[in-house]
Amino acid sequence: MDKRSTDVLIIGTGLAGLFAAVNIDSSIKVTLLSKTKVRNSNSSLAQGGIACEYNDDKSLHQKHIEDTMRAGAYLNDKNAVEFLVHNAFDAVKTLIELGVKFDMDKNGEYLFTKEGGHSSKRIFHSGGDATGNNVIEDLLAVVKQRKNIHIVDNTMALDLLQKDGKVHGAIVLENEAKHYPIYAKKVIIATGGIGSVYGSTTNDLNATGDGIGMAYRAGCKFQNMEFVQFHPTALYSEFVTSRQRFLITEAVRGEGAYLRNVEKERFMKKYDPERMELAPRDIVSQAIYREMYDTWTDHVYLDTTHMDPKFLEKRFPTVFNYCKKEGYIMGLDLIPVAPAEHFLCGGIKTDLDAKTCSMNLYAIGEVAYTGVHGANRLASNSLLECLVFSKSAAKNINETLNGDLLNQDFVIEELPNYNYNYKPIRKKIGDYMDEHVSIVRNEQGLSLTDKVLKDIEANLLKYPNLTKYYYETLNMVETAHLITESALKREESIGCHLRIK
Ligand code: SIN
Repeated sequence: MDKRSTDVLIIGTGLAGLFAAVNIDSSIKVTLLSKTKVRNSNSSLAQGGIACEYNDDKSLHQKHIEDTMRAGAYLNDKNAVEFLVHNAFDAVKTLIELGVKFDMDKNGEYLFTKEGGHSSKRIFHSGGDATGNNVIEDLLAVVKQRKNIHIVDNTMALDLLQKDGKVHGAIVLENEAKHYPIYAKKVIIATGGIGSVYGSTTNDLNATGDGIGMAYRAGCKFQNMEFVQFHPTALYSEFVTSRQRFLITEAVRGEGAYLRNVEKERFMKKYDPERMELAPRDIVSQAIYREMYDTWTDHVYLDTTHMDPKFLEKRFPTVFNYCKKEGYIMGLDLIPVAPAEHFLCGGIKTDLDAKTCSMNLYAIGEVAYTGVHGANRLASNSLLECLVFSKSAAKNINETLNGDLLNQDFVIEELPNYNYNYKPIRKKIGDYMDEHVSIVRNEQGLSLTDKVLKDIEANLLKYPNLTKYYYETLNMVETAHLITESALKREESIGCHLRIK
């Protein structure tokens, strides 16, 4: 297959990218691009599961729609939420038909769990708490059998090729050395999250906001960028130096775990007496932030000591073993946790076919703003969003690709190449975002950060450099800037966005 031209270029190999690829007709050439290795994605790290009312009867979907809207503080686009929930059955059914196995009881009935903000048990899981990993492995096996799909790894998409409002491919950097265009009739951005923009995150550290940066430079529209979700229970350690934090799935609380502050008080009754530890994530993370502030500490505890260690080991093997390695036995010890950046609820604005405002350009998964999450995403709706919108993007591509021509009429600019690693700048971005644009925000801190980020961006743009580090750093600062600007504009507190002034 000619590496430099394809029908559909998919940037990113998480769940959204892989599921789009397998839903595209086998007569269409697809190139899947991974910045590093195909398995390095946030999807592979996802523990909890996939929220889905597994039936075709729309009248039974109402509670999932209402839970999604309520978690999102009703800032969601109702049409998009209905589209998500009504298409969940079909998308999950396709996944199962492709060979993905979800956990079942001994009678062969699916086992469903509950997480924050859900009014009933509706979350599929696999391998207990290895849902993302198992789904990705099964899909990769399917992708490898498809002759029309070609995976290119260790290759970063730097910028989109654009002419007359149409996207015609992307310029890429292979192995940090070879710089060339990949021409395509359609391009899908599926680059995932933005965790590296913050000082601590549950994301894979490759999540540097690449799709956001690329789309920003191509003039795409963005929405709801201020809504950055912090997961309440990332494992806390005084000694961890990595910015990536180990996630302890919300399903542990779904199965009955409590939260306690350092005085061992079960504090959620002060913040959401009805839903307690199973309130949506924005409420729980903000409550933890408040408790840490009031107790002069940087963590709280996840309490599973009233639960059976044997059950916990079987139900949550990934979490159980990781905690054990860190010196905590689930069911016996209190586990120190603190919130960490987890998910961007806003992103590149798309329609229900995942189309952006640029012709031939689609965005799917976390990088996209489809309208479903509003001011805060409901737990386990993210993998579902990947499935539903990847499928609709693929359907649209299958129906429209014939009308497109490959345009290879581009001159690729030569760029200088320096050995800079940009570490001080990345640290500065993370420090400002943690201090001023995280769970609690105020006008003064946001304005200061806005100015610092503008200066960093202007300096980077003055000295282009043909390296992965340069483009990642540029993407990080542009993503951080979009978040900060949106946060400045939204003066009220709502969902994940808590303004104290
Ligand atoms: C979790 O398992 O708590 C994370 C799942 C999600 O982000 O929805």
